[in-house]
Amino acid sequence: MRSKVTVVGAGNVGATLAQRIAETDLADVVLVDAVEGVPQGKALDLMESGPILGYDTLITGTNGYDATAGSDVIVITAGLARKPGMSRDDLLAANGDIVKKVAEETSRRSPKAIMIVVTNPMDVMAFVAMKASGFPRERVFGMGGVLDSARFRTFIAMELAVSVENTHAFVLGGHGDTMVPLPHYSSVAGIPLTELLKKEQIDRLVERTRNGGAEIVSLLKTGSAYYAPSAATLEMVEAVLLDKKKILPCSVYLEGEYGVNGVFTGVPVKLGAKGVEQVMEVKLAAGEKAAFMKSVDAVRAGCAKFM
Ligand code: NAI
Ligand code: 2OP
Repeated sequence: MRSKVTVVGAGNVGATLAQRIAETDLADVVLVDAVEGVPQGKALDLMESGPILGYDTLITGTNGYDATAGSDVIVITAGLARKPGMSRDDLLAANGDIVKKVAEETSRRSPKAIMIVVTNPMDVMAFVAMKASGFPRERVFGMGGVLDSARFRTFIAMELAVSVENTHAFVLGGHGDTMVPLPHYSSVAGIPLTELLKKEQIDRLVERTRNGGAEIVSLLKTGSAYYAPSAATLEMVEAVLLDKKKILPCSVYLEGEYGVNGVFTGVPVKLGAKGVEQVMEVKLAAGEKAAFMKSVDAVRAGCAKFM
């Protein structure tokens, strides 16, 4: 039987994710949006690409939730995106209401699904979604670290003029200005980054990674990034549906790991059919630990509004 993925929010990230899922023929897709006609139109347009690109993916567009019943994965991208000058936290209140409703509606119809939260501020929205769905922490997690690590990898590859495929990088902590890129867990063809680049170079790449989302916003002017975000989400959906046991940095609800309790933040996890199958604890240097805790505090402050 084919897998079924619900993508709520048929905007830039959601529709591009639906396209990526269709083009890999990974699962059938139900695309939900509040705006009448938009999910239906995008779904039909994607279906009509199938004969050319050679996929049989069924893509359904809808403004309601009934067609989402029995989904294996639910991806929440519904909400408002950042505009220039807006921080992710500016989106907090508006997107909190939207994500709460989406999580309630989808979890009711797909009680066994795995929920991936993309909507910003993502770590706080993941908390809202977990509370509203009543799902265990293994089945609700957020996309941020995969994107931030991909940005770091891109900048490393550009700096060294090597293939991005040779690069590995980890960015932990919240998906926000306080994220924590970890150069000493980053490498090129297995060679530690710290042996290949000077400290000043690494610092520059780290800073560009931290500002990666804002850099795109300032160029696009009318919205935020969506090609890399949808690619990052696809990697997570694929890890779940194909039970890959892939180690990826995801935002998860910590229950004592890293000395943190009761807050979502980005850490390496093993993703498989059951969702988060293991939280990996890696050693952090003193400076990194302090930055990680600062990031955790920022997410906790955002969550306080939804307690
Ligand atoms: P967008 O504006 O293109 O799409 C958002 C869609 O959500 C719109 O089509 C809108 O009609 C829909 N929507 C709004 N309220 C809804 C509701 N109640 N029910 C169903 N649909 C609803 O925005 P984009 O670029 O797709 O970004 C979506 C969200 O993802 C934003 O919050 C953005 O900040 C976030 N984001 C997060 C990233 C991450 O790394 N976690 C990366 C990129 C974006
Ligand atoms: C990004 O990092 C806006 O969170 C989004 O591009």
